[in-house]
Amino acid sequence: MAEALNGLKRTCRCGEVTEAMIGQRVTLMGWVAKMRNKGGIVFVDLRDRTGIMQIVFEGNDQDKAATLRSEFCVAVTGVVKKRGGAVNPNLKTGTMEVEGEELRILSESQTPPFHIQDGIETRDELRLKYRYLDLRRPELQKKLIFRSRLAQLVRDFLTSEGFLDIETPDLIGSTPEGARDYLVPSRVHPGRFYALPQSPQLYKQILMCSGVDRYYQLARCFRDEDLRADRQPEFTQIDMELSFVDENDVMDVNTRLLGYILERIPAIYEELGFAPELADAARAAAGKIADSGIEKMPWKTAMDLYGSDKPDLRFGMPIIDVGDVVKDCGFAVFTGALASGGFVRGLNVKGQGGMPRKKIDKLTEIAKTYGAKGMAYVAIGADGKVKSSFAKFMTEEQMSALISAMGGENGDLLLFAADSFKVVCASLGALRLALGKELGLYDEHEFRFVWITEFPLLEWSDEEGRFMAMHHPFTMPMLSDWAHVDEDPGSVRAVAYDIVLNGVELGGGSVRIHIDTVQEKMFEVLGFTPERAQEQFGFLLTAFKYGVPPHAGLAYGFDRMAMLLTASDSIRDVIAFPKVKDASDLMVSAPTEVDPKQLEELCIKIDIPEKE
Ligand code: AMO
Ligand code: AMP
Repeated sequence: MAEALNGLKRTCRCGEVTEAMIGQRVTLMGWVAKMRNKGGIVFVDLRDRTGIMQIVFEGNDQDKAATLRSEFCVAVTGVVKKRGGAVNPNLKTGTMEVEGEELRILSESQTPPFHIQDGIETRDELRLKYRYLDLRRPELQKKLIFRSRLAQLVRDFLTSEGFLDIETPDLIGSTPEGARDYLVPSRVHPGRFYALPQSPQLYKQILMCSGVDRYYQLARCFRDEDLRADRQPEFTQIDMELSFVDENDVMDVNTRLLGYILERIPAIYEELGFAPELADAARAAAGKIADSGIEKMPWKTAMDLYGSDKPDLRFGMPIIDVGDVVKDCGFAVFTGALASGGFVRGLNVKGQGGMPRKKIDKLTEIAKTYGAKGMAYVAIGADGKVKSSFAKFMTEEQMSALISAMGGENGDLLLFAADSFKVVCASLGALRLALGKELGLYDEHEFRFVWITEFPLLEWSDEEGRFMAMHHPFTMPMLSDWAHVDEDPGSVRAVAYDIVLNGVELGGGSVRIHIDTVQEKMFEVLGFTPERAQEQFGFLLTAFKYGVPPHAGLAYGFDRMAMLLTASDSIRDVIAFPKVKDASDLMVSAPTEVDPKQLEELCIKIDIPEKE
């Protein structure tokens, strides 16, 4: 039978009991993690979000304690003692116990569908259906606490820098550029729809027109896109915008924000019991930022050297271009790629010249999933003997010139891709990452940041048959490039930047266009008629006519930040109520069908095409 609190007050949480409190009477409240009845003495492990305290019932309420089962919610009053039995070094309260005097069962629990314990092997679906139970696990609790602390650090820093926290609406107009929108039907305006924001982008730019000067928000964003380990259909951004600044100002303030966070999280890690390697890594990264800031790397350099616009710089193994060296060789795969405007590039996998054929074939498969038609290799034995998939097409001089261009030494494995820029980058970039991981070339606990700058402004879309904005249509082009936009739109760079951490895009932003002639030309390049531009973005363009300040901004994926800083495998671990791959919420079974009356009110008819 559940009992009421009846005025009973908790004096502290389980993990807050210290040895200084030995001899004091405390009242703790929480959940039963474990009950052991040793006959004549009952041990109860009481859990709350701060930890576990062992309670011993001997005499007082002992029989009642013996009726406890896992996950009962209870209140215990008793005196803190030094442990009588064995000390538990795994608990921060492991040297103490509470001698139970009074036990109140606040509510009973059914047998939970899985054991609430870290490291349990339970199907993900079950854990997500009973998310509230999964969240009782210490591992997830500490991630929730960490996330809350991280948000507070962000707020503290940005407030101290003069940013105002301003909310923007969630029911907005649909903007067709970007990912797919989530739509919300309007009852008052039948046949019309709101969209949920993919980001507060347009509103934050309008706020700059309003003279807000510096805005930030921990903003909910909604994108109807395919999910991956680091993507959710709704997620949170640390979103910001600043007036009267250029790209360096934005990168500076954000470099300082990251430094501020990294300096302060070691204390949080320690308090919450995260691996000590994380605190060391954060301290090292903070020190590096304090000394020399965060490295900036142009997009082209990142692509050329690492095959990716989000390079993982925790290890080397840069891509090497050998086009000049092989242009006259007899290997048609190489010369053919070059002749059609492509590239021949390679990786030097140090010390792996003895890699078995099977493993090399596996690497080839990886390259192929990124569009490569094959992967050529040269394996240099410890004795200097060369094995290669294309030696027969090369003279000895050509082969040694190639090896020397690659910096090849005895015992090295050289891998080559010959294809278009895109395919060469994607396949060698993927091989580099796979090898880095497999060969343990980096410290998993390092935090390695890099700013990627000078992104291309436009990206050709085969689907749309036109150039699309790589970031969004309000991104400022580099004015030095803009002059030749008509001749070569693909070569124009944007004043845009991404912040990358350990090979993950943590955030991105840009300087926005505030010059009307540039904006008009931009729409023309994107294939918008002035009418269509007016129709879709009219409010923004009109607002800009009343004295728009130069402005720029950035948004971080806050969930990704929390994921990386807690060394979690999935973004789901740092989101209280995440969705699964098909975007459904298993706990509340959303999305659901709705009452026909609701649809009628909205003038909506459902017409699901039959599957073939
Ligand atoms: P962008 O679209 O690059 O820029 O988004 C910014 C950051 O948000 C995170 N992110 C996501 N996180 C989880 N799930 C998703 N589905 C998801 N999509 C994006 C990423 C990304 O770097 N308005 C611009 C920013 C600006 O220009 O100021 C924007 O939204 O970490
Ligand atoms: P082949 O002449 O087709 O037997 O190819 C010889 C070697 O070149 C094999 O190891 C192939 O995997 C490799 N190869 C084929 N296409 C490419 C490519 N586009 N880039 C790099 N290597 C390739």
